[in-house]
Parts: sequence; structure tokens; C-alpha cells
Amino acid sequence: MSGEYPAVELPRKAGRAADDTKTRIARMGHSMLWLDNITVSFDGFKALNKLTLYIDDGELRCIIGANGAGKTTLMDVITGKTRPDEGSVFFGQTIDLLHLSETQIAQGGIGRKFQKPTVFEHHSVFENLELAMHADKRAWPTLFARLSGEQRERIDEVLEIIGLGAERVRRAGLLSHGQKQWLEIGMLLMQNPRVLLVDEPVAGMTGQETERTAELLTSLAGRHSVVVVEHDMEFVRSIARKVTVLHEGSVLAEGSMNDVQNNPRVKEVYLGE
Ligand SMILES: Nc1ncnc2c1ncn2[C@@H]1O[C@H](COP(=O)(O)OP(=O)(O)OP(=O)(O)O)[C@@H](O)[C@H]1O
Ligand SMILES: [Mg+2]
Repeated sequence: MSGEYPAVELPRKAGRAADDTKTRIARMGHSMLWLDNITVSFDGFKALNKLTLYIDDGELRCIIGANGAGKTTLMDVITGKTRPDEGSVFFGQTIDLLHLSETQIAQGGIGRKFQKPTVFEHHSVFENLELAMHADKRAWPTLFARLSGEQRERIDEVLEIIGLGAERVRRAGLLSHGQKQWLEIGMLLMQNPRVLLVDEPVAGMTGQETERTAELLTSLAGRHSVVVVEHDMEFVRSIARKVTVLHEGSVLAEGSMNDVQNNPRVKEVYLGE
């Protein structure tokens, strides 16, 4: 393997063509996240089945698929919550995520937003962002210590990005559902993640909040790789660049929204045509 590529041992599978391997190595070259041949079984049921997926640096990827297709399990594998039976997961080309703990993965630059917002309701919006800045939770007593100018600037910058500048002193518990979701995204941003995983971000949001979330996630791409799982197809269409369709734990189709919607296999199994 040339020095340009990390010293990653590609799994050798009998029957896999040399050309295929070459393409895979080239593809890896600019991937931020690389899942190769991942299988996850629960009592013999394969939630993920030989799934292979690459996410580029700074891209915005939408992942769609019916209930039970394996979307959340995919995020669980990336974040170290679930360990696959088979396959490899690399981050930034050289970091083998299967050898890191959930905490190490989170601190290493992969932020995950769960569906239910988990903001600190009794703290202000500003304080929530301040708390999130300290990856090490033991550092929390420093909440009321003086912030450096740089730290204050970063909080202001994130407030601006998430559109909550006017709510900075408001108690987080008093925010709307949508605002809480944005605050939680802001809290992830305080850690400066390279990858942001967002599972069903617009569930329960008003139309206006959904639109604002589309703008927010779109604005984050470029600086971060953003992976969005969502059932709301109108929302997906509004942000989609590349879409991956999961079906029974494998990639069924990948491409633009139009490509995947016109894909006969997708029509057959996912859209029920
Ligand atoms: N811990 C677990 N134990 C047993 N089965 C599980 C577990 N986690 C997930 N599964 C099963 O794996 C399959 C994939 O689940 P997953 O949650 O990844 O689907 P999903 O695509 O996120 O679905 P949804 O759109 O409903 O959120 C489902 O059949 C689910 O029941
Ligand atoms: Mg799910």
C-alpha cells in the first residue's frame, strides 16, 4: 500500500476482485467515516447485514429506510454503543473505532444527537453551552469560573449558528421543543466534532421549526460531516445531497434524492410499488 494511505489492513475476502479492492482503497482516501462489511446480529437476527458505507469529509448525508431497516443500529455501531460481529469502522482513515470506548469516540470527534433533547432544563441557554464545552464532566464546578475571551466568543458563535442568540439567558426548560433540539445541537458543536450524527431531528417539530432545522444542518455541512436519519421525506428532500437507502440492514441504493426515488429496487421494497 502506498505511503499516502494509512496502514489499514483491508479485510481480504475470497472472491473479491482486485479492482474492487483498488476502488475501495481509493474511496477510503477522502472518507471521514468508513464502515466496511458490518454485520450486527441480535439473537440470530441481522440488524445490519454486510453493510458498507463511506461518509466524506464535510458531506451532508441523509439515511432513509423503513422502520427496522437498521438506521439507529448503524449509529450505535459508529458511536461504540453496539459492537458488530463482523466488519471494520474507521474514522479519519486511521482511527479504528472498534478499539475505542463510547467515551473515547465521543471525545475523539463524533457527536451524536439522540431524538429526545437532553438539555439541562434549570440552566440558561448560555450555561448549557458552557457546560457542554467541558468534555470532562468532572470540570463542571468551573461553571461559574471566569470564561476566557476565546471561550465566550465560541459560545457566542454557536448561539448565532443555532439561532438562539436572543434566548441566551432564558432557562432551557422554557424553550420550545424545536429550540431545545437546536440547543442540543449547539452543545455538540461546543466539542467541535468532525462528525455529527443526528437521528430523526425534526420529529415533533412545527413546520417552521423543521425549515429552520434544515437550514441549520445544511449550514453545518462543510465544517462537519453530518449524517441525518429521518423519516420526514419532505424534510429529507429539502436538505438532501446524497441519500443512502437502508433495507434489512444493507445499503439498497445510494445517490441523489431523484436517483433513489426512481430506483426500481427502492420503489419495490421501500415505496411499496
Ligand atoms: N438491542 C436490540 N436487541 C434486539 N433487537 C434489536 C436491538 N436493537 C435493534 N434491534 C432490531 O434491529 C432492527 C433494526 O433496528 P433499528 O433500531 O436500527 O431500526 P431503524 O432503522 O432505526 O428503525 P426506526 O425507523 O423504527 O427507528 C429492528 O428489527 C430492531 O427490532
Ligand atoms: Mg431508529
